[in-house]
Amino acid sequence: MAVLMLVAGHETTANMIGLGTLALLDLPEQLAELLDTEDPKLVANAVEELLRYLTIVHTGRRRVATEDVEVAGQLVRAGEGVILANDAGNRNEDAFPEPDRLDIHRQARHHIAFGFGVHQCLGQPLARMEL
Ligand code: HEM
Repeated sequence: MAVLMLVAGHETTANMIGLGTLALLDLPEQLAELLDTEDPKLVANAVEELLRYLTIVHTGRRRVATEDVEVAGQLVRAGEGVILANDAGNRNEDAFPEPDRLDIHRQARHHIAFGFGVHQCLGQPLARMEL
C-alpha cells in the first residue's frame, strides 16, 4: 500500500508539474496568458489540457473482459486480456482535433489521463488541486 501510494501519488504529480512547466515554457504566449489571468476556470482548463497532452502514466491499463464485448468494431472475447494505451487515446484526433498541439483553451475534460471506469485514479481531485 505504501509503495502504491508513493508511486501513484507522488511520481505522477511531481513529474506532471515538472513536464507541465517545461511544456508551457516552450509556449511563452500561453504561459504569459496563464500567469496574467485572474480566471480560475482558465487555470483549471489548462490543467486538464496538460493532463491530456502529457498523459504522464505511460504503462497501459490492463483489463480482462468478463463477457464478449465489441469496442469500435473490434470483438473482445470473454477471458481475453487487453492493454489500453491511455496516451494514444489522449492523442486521438477524433476526440481531440490537432491532438499534438497544446492549447490551454481546449475543452479536454474527457481525457483518460486518470484512466476510466471503477479503477480510475482515486487521487485525481488531489492531483488537480496540486497541479
Ligand atoms: C497527475 C497525477 C496523477 C495521474 C496522471 C494519475 C493517473 C492514474 C492512473 C492512469 C491510474 C489507473 C486508473 C485505471 O486503472 O483505470 C491511477 C490509479 C490510482 N491512483 Fe492516480 N494519478 C495521479 C495522482 C494520484 C494521487 C495524487 C494519488 C493519491 C494520493 C493517486 C492514487 C491512485 C490510486 C490509489 C490508484 C489505484 C486505483 C484503483 O486501482 O482502484 N493518484 N492513477
